[in-house]
Amino acid sequence: MEISLKNKSALVTGASRGIGAAIAEALSACGANVMVAYKSRAEDAERVAASCRGGDSATVAMEVSSRDDVERAVDAVTKRWGRFDILVNNAGYLKQTPFADISDAEWAVTMDANLRGVFLCSQVAGAVFASQNAAEGGGGCIVNITSVGGQMGGTKAPHYAAAKAGVISLTKSTAKLLAPHGVRVNAIAPGFIKTDMYEHIIANTDVSEILASIPLGRVGLPGDVADAAAFLASDRASYITGHVLNVNGGMYLGAGS
Ligand SMILES: NC(=O)c1ccc[n+]([C@@H]2O[C@H](COP(=O)([O-])OP(=O)(O)OC[C@H]3O[C@@H](n4cnc5c(N)ncnc54)[C@H](OP(=O)(O)O)[C@@H]3O)[C@@H](O)[C@H]2O)c1
Repeated sequence: MEISLKNKSALVTGASRGIGAAIAEALSACGANVMVAYKSRAEDAERVAASCRGGDSATVAMEVSSRDDVERAVDAVTKRWGRFDILVNNAGYLKQTPFADISDAEWAVTMDANLRGVFLCSQVAGAVFASQNAAEGGGGCIVNITSVGGQMGGTKAPHYAAAKAGVISLTKSTAKLLAPHGVRVNAIAPGFIKTDMYEHIIANTDVSEILASIPLGRVGLPGDVADAAAFLASDRASYITGHVLNVNGGMYLGAGS
């Protein structure tokens, strides 16, 4: 099955490294023009953009919890490519902290990066998608990156898990709200994926414990999530909306035999 995103324009948040970088590269390999958004690592983002050779590519600095930054990034896409088709809300922030030690400030930063950012990007992009749909048909789509923690809860970062649960709810709400405008909204719930975030996780958790929780017996790679994102962003998924796709090696099945 070929996935073609030719002539489509995408914005991927948190694309300077990890899963976001792999998603930017996968969308590009399918022919999309890709805006590689980053928070602080400009050089890494430039490297990712340079490896996006399937279509055009560019970078934009963007704090996802800033409405001004979000509007500027979406403008950058429409100005450069004339239209906007795919938003991937990938940017995320995890700091494992015991429940009793989570400060108000850390709660706020975690919600801002993981949930408020998805809200702002979806609201701003959703309006562009809806007006494109009214003008020429074909509204666009959103892929949100949540987490298995948002589905199962988590003892090591309950604030992060709560934000990711919020992303699942927002995915379902926006899928309903934007469907009349021809816009699909889906989410991917990764399990453990080898990135900088995973390195933070294994600093506090035994790898053998992690592997024991994964029926397929291996930690995922950024490409595992990127392939799923390319599919959901494509017309091959044109009848799928409001779905949460598990990319976790079977982790969400639980521990039973
Ligand atoms: N890795 C896993 O095991 C795992 C599991 C489940 C879900 N996820 C989710 O998958 C997504 C990607 O994770 P990852 O493992 O690739 O993470 P990562 O390696 O830590 O990369 C995080 C990315 O998000 C960007 N970012 C962080 N805070 C931001 C903010 N406030 N505004 C804008 N950009 C921000 C970073 O930009 P800079 O590089 O410029 O700082 C970076 O590009 C996240 O939503 C994460 O929660 C990951």
